Formats: sequence, C-alpha cells, structure tokens
Amino acid sequence: MKSDVPENPETGLQLPVHVAVIMDGNGRWAKKRMLNRVKGHEKGADAVRMIVRASREIGIRYLTLFAFSTENWQRPKAEIKALMTLLKRFLTSEKQEMIDNNIRINIIGQMERLPSDVAAQLKETMAETAANDAMQLNLALSYGGRAEIAMACAAIARKVKDGAVDIASITPELVAQHLYTADIPDPELLIRTSGEYRISNFLLWQAAYTELFITPTLWPDFTREEFVAILSEYNKRERRFGRADD
Ligand code: IPE
Ligand code: IPE
Ligand code: MG
Repeated sequence: MKSDVPENPETGLQLPVHVAVIMDGNGRWAKKRMLNRVKGHEKGADAVRMIVRASREIGIRYLTLFAFSTENWQRPKAEIKALMTLLKRFLTSEKQEMIDNNIRINIIGQMERLPSDVAAQLKETMAETAANDAMQLNLALSYGGRAEIAMACAAIARKVKDGAVDIASITPELVAQHLYTADIPDPELLIRTSGEYRISNFLLWQAAYTELFITPTLWPDFTREEFVAILSEYNKRERRFGRADD
C-alpha cells in the first residue's frame, strides 16, 4: 500500500486508526466566489472523494465524515434538498470504487429522518460493501452527539425496565456499546476545516480524548497535502489521557 506520510526513523510512523472530520466551510467557499451555497457543497464532494482515497492509501482504518447534523435540518429546504441529492449521487458514483478498494460504508445518525430514496440507496450501498474490511467509511448523517447519547440512555433504560440490565452495571463501557459507534474505536484525531473552534455536536462522547486539529482552510480547498501534514503533526502530539508525564 502506498504511503506518503513521513516516516519517523526512531519509532516508525504512528498512524491514527480512526480519523474524524468536520467538513465545514462549503458555504463560505461559494460566497467568496459569489456563487450559490450549493456550488460549495458540490465542490466539497470532490474533497470527500479525495480524503476517502487518501485515507485508504495511507492505511487509516476508520474515517468518519460529518456530512449533515441534526441541527442542519433547520437550513432552507432547497439547500437540504440539494445536499440529499448530492449524497445520493455520491453513493451511486462511488459505489464501484468502494467495492474495488475494499471499503465498507456505514451510517451513523438518524437514518429514519432521511428521505426514503436516500435511505434506500444508503441501505443498498451498506449491504453491498458489508463484507469489505480494508477501511470503514462512516458517514454521519442527521447525526448529533446529544441525540445519540439520549438514544443510548433510552435503550439502556428499556433494558433496566425489562430486567436485562442492572443499574449498577451501567458503566461508560456499557453506554459506549449503545452508541452508533459501538464497534468502532474512538477517533484519535479530529480535523475541523474553516477555522471554527467548536465541536458542533459531533462525537461528543467519543471525542473525550481525541486530538483536535483546526485548520482555516475551507473544506472544498482541503488537499491531500494538508491532510498528510496534519497526520505528521499528529505524530508529534503527546497523548497523556490524564496521566502524569514520565
Ligand atoms: C459544511 O459547510 C457542510 C454542511 C454543514 C452540510 P457549511 O454549509 O456549513 O459552510 P459554511 O460554514 O456556511 O461556510
Ligand atoms: C457542522 O457544521 C456540521 C457539518 C459539518 C455537517 P455547521 O456549519 O453545521 O456548524 P456550525 O453551525 O458552524 O456550528
Ligand atoms: Mg458551517
């Protein structure tokens, strides 16, 4: 597998297993060019193709992309419609590449809130790539960290009520098992483009100890070179998880 991440001669390169990305700045990219926001989303779709391809080649095992939040439903209907159309187009145009490159597609978020044609396309793509195991691409769609945690609470409460779970056994591990990401390790690295210093309801639980990288680059301008630079920067971070430095 091709890798253009600089090697550390002492220890070898520490690649994150799971990279998460808040793909932000499509609207501003379009505005700067006096274009409709939808043009920014269209251009953003090219950056999605780029990061999926690059991650697979570099050897990232899980890539989670924040594509649509629970709060994004408050956007104008026309923008939402355009985003859903783009998503459907992405799923059909990229399916063969996902299959050829052994990439599994998975959805995290409220599938039931998506338009039925989009949900049907998602289910088809997920089923056709279910056995792929080189990389898992998680698309966060109608995803919100708070809604996810509330859903987990409800699922656990139901089990307590049915006598299947004892209150004393409600641990962080048990909560984690009831999230969309039950079988996915927490991301080591979270990238946000467009320079906003906030998490915007993304992976609230899972990002407890994630290394954050905020870049001013707008998502449609995000390149493979910058991605590789962030990955090598990640190598220099010292992750302590609350422990004392020794
Ligand atoms: C990110 O770009 C894409 C989605 C949230 C769907 P934005 O549309 O939020 O772009 P800005 O933040 O307005 O520039
Ligand atoms: C976060 O971006 C959601 C996605 C990238 C899908 P937003 O543009 O919705 O976040 P805010 O409004 O700037 O916090
Ligand atoms: Mg935004």
